[in-house]
Amino acid sequence: MPASSSETPLIRVRNLHQNFGASRVLRGVDLDIYPNETVCLLGTSGGGKTVLVKHMIGLMQPRQGTIEIDGVDISNMSERELGPIRKKMGMMFQNGALFDSLNVAQNIAFPLREDGITDIDELNQRVAEVLGIVRLPGQEEKMPSELSGGMQKRVALARAIVIKPQCICYDEPHAGLDPITAESIDKLIKCLQQDHGISNIVITHELRSVFRIADRIVFMKDGKVYWQGSPDEMKSSPDPALRDFINGSDSHSDAPHTS
Ligand SMILES: Nc1ncnc2c1ncn2[C@@H]1O[C@H](COP(=O)(O)OP(=O)(O)O)[C@@H](O)[C@H]1O
Ligand SMILES: [Mg+2]
Repeated sequence: MPASSSETPLIRVRNLHQNFGASRVLRGVDLDIYPNETVCLLGTSGGGKTVLVKHMIGLMQPRQGTIEIDGVDISNMSERELGPIRKKMGMMFQNGALFDSLNVAQNIAFPLREDGITDIDELNQRVAEVLGIVRLPGQEEKMPSELSGGMQKRVALARAIVIKPQCICYDEPHAGLDPITAESIDKLIKCLQQDHGISNIVITHELRSVFRIADRIVFMKDGKVYWQGSPDEMKSSPDPALRDFINGSDSHSDAPHTS
């Protein structure tokens, strides 16, 4: 369902500013994310999408502005206070790195163990459950090196959802995937929303995927939310910045970076 303004947002960002030295990356971002919606976050490379999402899951603190999760302002919270908040948020990082020396089950159980869960039966059961959700049942013993790129992304997704988050952020989940595999990731993203009530925030340049999965598109420019609307509204928008993005979307792919 598209966002309705009568609902309380899961995430409310107001006047968010962030800079790195003289580089003013975020310059007053206002954005609401509602329960049970899929939002695609678009914008030119280096425009601050990853930085914005890191603020929304409590991994970075703003220079100015506020971030509320479920109505609670997290912008000045200590690391200890942020712990429970971060459990509401899952993240699939760019290049979704798995631990190479751990098998699939150990990778997925990692955040549970960090959470203090040690009961083997519970760990096994939770791992099996999320492997079923990402359509990789019975793959517990495989090593990451034995899996295709698409399967590795699914395992990374399983690891993100095993903590039962309310919201998952995906940083370039389609990067490096062939169209068929990208579509299968899209199906999983929608399934998490529709069957599990999760909100999805997806940073991507793949317009085919955007138009397949987005309830709402948020387009960032000059460190702010420049435009937002539905896929149909984007397709028919005369705005030159949106038209440029749509027409040149293949050239916007992020170059690999280390941050
Ligand atoms: N931790 C950091 N320290 C310094 N600069 C950073 C850091 N993280 C991101 N940046 C810079 O902020 C800008 C926005 O980065 P990013 O959010 O990764 O862009 P996008 O995801 O839209 O491509 C880039 O110029 C990047 O180099
Ligand atoms: Mg990025």
